[in-house]
Amino acid sequence: MSKQKIVTVASLAILWIGAAPCAGGQDVPALKDVFQDHFLIGGAPNRTVVTGRDPNAAAIVEKHFNTITAENDLKWQLIHPRPDRYNWEPADSFVAFGEKNRMSVIGHCLVWHAQTPRWVFQDDSGGEITRDALLARMKDHIMAVVGRYKGRIKGWDVVNEALDEDGTLRNSPWRRIIGEGSEDQKYDFIECAFRWAHEADPDAELYYNDYNLETSKAKCDGAIAIVKHFKSKGLRIDGVGIQLHGGLTHPSVEGLEYAITSLAAAGVKVMVTELDIRTQARGYRGADISRVSRANTDDPAAAAAETQKKLADKYAEIFSVLLAHKKDITRVTFWGVYDKTSWIGGSPLLFDRNGQPKEAFFAVVKAARQQ
Ligand code: XIL
Repeated sequence: MSKQKIVTVASLAILWIGAAPCAGGQDVPALKDVFQDHFLIGGAPNRTVVTGRDPNAAAIVEKHFNTITAENDLKWQLIHPRPDRYNWEPADSFVAFGEKNRMSVIGHCLVWHAQTPRWVFQDDSGGEITRDALLARMKDHIMAVVGRYKGRIKGWDVVNEALDEDGTLRNSPWRRIIGEGSEDQKYDFIECAFRWAHEADPDAELYYNDYNLETSKAKCDGAIAIVKHFKSKGLRIDGVGIQLHGGLTHPSVEGLEYAITSLAAAGVKVMVTELDIRTQARGYRGADISRVSRANTDDPAAAAAETQKKLADKYAEIFSVLLAHKKDITRVTFWGVYDKTSWIGGSPLLFDRNGQPKEAFFAVVKAARQQ
């Protein structure tokens, strides 16, 4: 091949690479601009995003989001795997990534029954730990983690998923070991967690976070009872996170409106903290992580035009409700960044497996413009 031909082939290759669509959509508006006057809009990147190993996801996050929540790296199991060992590096790089991009960084989560190592609930001989020892452990963890990011994390999901579907407290090791006590101490472990989080960073916002608040009125009423209890005792609680792991046929408009309006009426900010819409028509619908696995999240119909149309319609409906209640909503965060890395499989987000905006993306933008 002549030198000239080599140069021509090389330039064509460069042109072709340059023309390949860039993740996040080159010519589409940025979601953070579209929702600028309404609420913060964000996603939940994982480690591959902040370390630069997934440039597609990073491009989407940087272009579209003004708030981020770590999908996993601040959870107890990851950040505090052994009694005497904290694994700060992933969380440090997540927080630094958010700061570099001038985003509101959200901490998820401090006290939860899942993704918490077994040792937390055990004494040295492997038996169940005492109430006092568990409280001491909880305090140490919260003071260390919240304290490390003091002034840098805007708000914390202090307690995650403490309720059952009927609105009573879930029988988690936290509740079982710490106990409910008298009526006045009904939410003892939740109260302690919030008190210590406040002590560690008095300026951080503190949230209670749960799923199915938009589909189960009883569960939503359970969250409202927690808020009212806190307010009656003068304890700090800033917001309640509606996770909103939805599906093509749920939640209903009524269910979502009930959750937003009744939580706001109880005196807290409302946020949608883990938005995705499962495209699978069958299988488990909830967000209990012990029931969701790669094996049961496969969805052969995910890419079909009919599925994508239904997804776009559901997103449009959900966003029209969120926008109608924007005075009560401070933030909407998607759970993940794009379909390829979603925990729920199928095609649940606004960007496809190559990072390109889907029909659902345009439906959401249209909903905002119609406001
Ligand atoms: C999920 C993550 O997305 C997965 O990567 C992980 O394996 C399990 O947890 N409710 C929550 C989130 O509060 O922390 C969960 O995240 C999804 C359900």
